[in-house]
Amino acid sequence: MISLFCQMYQKRIIKSEDGSHTIELIGQNEQYHSTHGAIQESNHVYIKHGLERITQNADTISILEVGMGTGLNVLLTWIYAKKHHLKVNYYAIEAFPVEEEIWRQLNYATLQNESDSEEIYDRIHQSAWNETTELAKDFKFKKIEDSILEHQLPKTEFDVVYFDAFNPDLEPKLWTSDVFENIFSSMKNESVLSTYSTKGIVKRAMKSCGFKIEKKPGPPGKREILNAVKGSI
Ligand SMILES: C[S@@+](CC[C@H](N)C(=O)[O-])C[C@H]1O[C@@H](n2cnc3c(N)ncnc32)[C@H](O)[C@@H]1O
Repeated sequence: MISLFCQMYQKRIIKSEDGSHTIELIGQNEQYHSTHGAIQESNHVYIKHGLERITQNADTISILEVGMGTGLNVLLTWIYAKKHHLKVNYYAIEAFPVEEEIWRQLNYATLQNESDSEEIYDRIHQSAWNETTELAKDFKFKKIEDSILEHQLPKTEFDVVYFDAFNPDLEPKLWTSDVFENIFSSMKNESVLSTYSTKGIVKRAMKSCGFKIEKKPGPPGKREILNAVKGSI
């Protein structure tokens, strides 16, 4: 399955408008992040409108990421958690891990003002799959090499979900009510899923599982993004 994906999609690194890299699937006009700014987008969609929304009254947060890809969201979450003295349990699903020759060239760690960001970024990629590791103090990390289409998630576990799959036009099967039902039941009451797509099919699939949909202003280059809320936060 993995080699088939690599054969289908050749990758190359490009620079987005905020100077941070992203990966492009050659011939698909599909990138891992916004070309208007990869770090800018991740900070806006997942940190500001996901993590920050939930951390107001909590000191420990459980996070699920669907589509870990480059590990950028893990790195940004670690920076936020360190700054806000937050304990994190991070559970990331990735079906097609980014190859070492690619992640080693990405500039995410060097663009941060953190002395240990390069070490943490290496650790994100070099830690064992399917095992819980201590990425840093108070930051437990488990990355799972599996497809969200098959993976049975733990129940009532997560406070925040970063849903960062490829665009629904490219991979519609990842944005269905079956996938969102699995995620909904893995979330605690009073939790939030954040994602960049506001397509009608996405909103309908989420609503059918019990999510309450809220539109939020988008990052530069995108008018709106989505929060799907479980419970009443
Ligand atoms: C938009 S990109 C990832 C962005 C990522 N969060 C980052 O910051 O680099 C989508 C990711 O979803 C992964 N993916 C594709 N199909 C998947 C599946 N069925 N289950 C889990 N992950 C999948 C891709 O390999 C890719 O890494």
